[in-house]
Amino acid sequence: MSDRELIRAALAARECSYSPYSGFMVGAALLTKSGRVYAGCNVENAAYTPTNCAERTAFFKAISEGEREFAAIAVAGWPRDGEAGYAFPCGVCRQVMMEFCDPDRFRVLVAAGEEEYRAFTLRELLPEGFGPANLT
Ligand code: THU
Repeated sequence: MSDRELIRAALAARECSYSPYSGFMVGAALLTKSGRVYAGCNVENAAYTPTNCAERTAFFKAISEGEREFAAIAVAGWPRDGEAGYAFPCGVCRQVMMEFCDPDRFRVLVAAGEEEYRAFTLRELLPEGFGPANLT
């Protein structure tokens, strides 16, 4: 799967965003090493703190379907009525990625459009991260 296809899936997921409080619509598309894609959007809540980010929605969908090996995630987020821009994964989402992904191989594509994106490794976004390897 190309970066562009993965970003297209994130853009489609963004359309499902449930964000009546922030108006900030986010979509994510998580690619497994086997080539499957799990999409996710942010899901907000009137009590605010139960809100789930798009990235974690995608991860939790995939993990709960038995997936454990991931290659990349594309993220697309900007305000409902605003200009497209770059939304970087929050710290909690980076930590969830750290649980399941090799920080030197897992790629994070932060997209502002189908052909406008920046690519990082998880290591770049979470240097000196704490993960499962620290507990062995
Ligand atoms: N949000 C995400 O879904 N992913 C990010 O990477 C950044 C923030 C959501 C959470 C909340 O619904 C809204 O964006 C504003 O913070």
